[in-house]
Amino acid sequence: MYLLTGSTGTIGREVMKLLVDAGEEVTAVTRAPHAAKLPADVRVAGADPETLASALEGVTALLLAPRAVGDTAAELLRLAAERGVQRVVLLSAITVEYGGGYERFAAAFTSIEAAVAASGLAWTFLRCADFAANTLAWAPQIRATGTVRGAYGNAATASVHERDIAEVAVRALRDPAHAGRRYALTGPQPLTQHDKVRLIGEAIGRRLAFQEITHQQARQAMLAQGLPEDVPDRMLGYLSTCADQPGPATDTVERVLGRPALPYAEWAIDHADAFCGS
Ligand SMILES: NC(=O)c1ccc[n+]([C@@H]2O[C@H](COP(=O)([O-])OP(=O)(O)OC[C@H]3O[C@@H](n4cnc5c(N)ncnc54)[C@H](OP(=O)(O)O)[C@@H]3O)[C@@H](O)[C@H]2O)c1
Repeated sequence: MYLLTGSTGTIGREVMKLLVDAGEEVTAVTRAPHAAKLPADVRVAGADPETLASALEGVTALLLAPRAVGDTAAELLRLAAERGVQRVVLLSAITVEYGGGYERFAAAFTSIEAAVAASGLAWTFLRCADFAANTLAWAPQIRATGTVRGAYGNAATASVHERDIAEVAVRALRDPAHAGRRYALTGPQPLTQHDKVRLIGEAIGRRLAFQEITHQQARQAMLAQGLPEDVPDRMLGYLSTCADQPGPATDTVERVLGRPALPYAEWAIDHADAFCGS
């Protein structure tokens, strides 16, 4: 049995699908068990500590999503160790290793890595680059106007496809050989935001534009769009660093999976539907 926190998130859903397809038993943790629309063959558990404590019985490995577990991480790890869980795979961030963005965000990931390392469980850290899926935030603007208004258009990051992270996560959840590894997961090459908007345009057969606005304007627009309070600072802080120095690109996905990391162009094709229509 594998227990997935963040099961309704970008990575959690992919990991769940891969495990179910492989015939594994999965418990999906969500704050809203009745609204989560999870596959029928998945066991669903609420996120409250009591439910989690019993859901951890018989679990071999745990996927830990920091945003989803919030400040309950230490308690969850303690319960997991007590219940005999063997492994934990942590969705961490590449900024722990390479820096970039506001220090407080990297520090929070460093701190959860330390809690995982101290838990007594075998662990694997997936230090992820910015998810390609973060650019789904552009979808409403692209559908409505064909123009993305954003800051730091020349900032280049090697955004990573959620399928690559999920495939590595599944390997680490199932195979103890990945214990003690810190995997820096990125896409194949840094691309600017101009490049990414162009590639979405190619995927949907429409000419798109990127219009440069200030950091403050971009921040306000993201908040007005309903993104959580911390997200503009996370994203804009990292982009401001990568406007001066492109974000890292590693070959870790290829080393772990035996095939190259998926390019952003492929991610754009996979998600073309989100950018079409009005
Ligand atoms: N986005 C990036 O570029 C990036 C880069 C590096 C690392 N990460 C890490 O990767 C992890 C996985 O990201 P993800 O996008 O797949 O999913 P996520 O942000 O972890 O969210 C997954 C689920 O967590 C639950 N949740 C519980 N408390 C929440 C809260 N306060 N705010 C938002 N969601 C909350 C929600 O599910 P329910 O409503 O069903 O409970 C949500 O669907 C994150 O935890 C993040 O720390 C992200």
